[in-house]
Amino acid sequence: MRPALPADRFVAPFANEKAARAANAGAYPPDLSLMVKARNGGADYLYAVLMGYKDEAPEGVELADGMYFNEYFPGRQIAMPPPVSADAVEFADGTEATAEQIAHDISAFLTWTAQPELEQRKSMGRKVLLFLIVLSAMLYVLKRKIWSDLH
Ligand code: HEM
Repeated sequence: MRPALPADRFVAPFANEKAARAANAGAYPPDLSLMVKARNGGADYLYAVLMGYKDEAPEGVELADGMYFNEYFPGRQIAMPPPVSADAVEFADGTEATAEQIAHDISAFLTWTAQPELEQRKSMGRKVLLFLIVLSAMLYVLKRKIWSDLH
């Protein structure tokens, strides 16, 4: 152990995959850093899963041991316990910590983590636009020069 650095990865909560499965009804908790890109629906799907838990399965649905009913998870049985609840965190600016607010923030955060190349892409985009503006100006001047004695 050593003091953490901003660039450190989160420490995994389980020793290995088997320990993780043993603690989660046999399911392996996925890496969430690219989850928004890995699922159809992206951030909307994530938000839906986080908010999609029901206290009880509807009539006629048998839940397997250690599983939870979730309307938006494929198959509707999920091994993840509901991770979001109201007032689980406190916002420094006094924003009310509803479950919806927390799920919304997590979805936005995981959209950001899913694009590690974002900063580089935007900085490249700015350079490309600048280049195109300068090139257009030069082509315009050139066009005027070429056509100047042809009128
Ligand atoms: C804010 C915290 C969390 C978020 C945003 C989150 C999100 C997710 C997402 C998006 C999935 C994948 C759903 C899919 O495959 O389409 C998942 C799966 C899973 N998560 Fe979480 N999770 C969180 C916390 C936790 C915690 C605290 C646990 C364990 C106690 C956990 C255990 C699992 C397990 C076992 C699965 C696999 C579910 C299955 O295949 O049935 N998650 N989680």
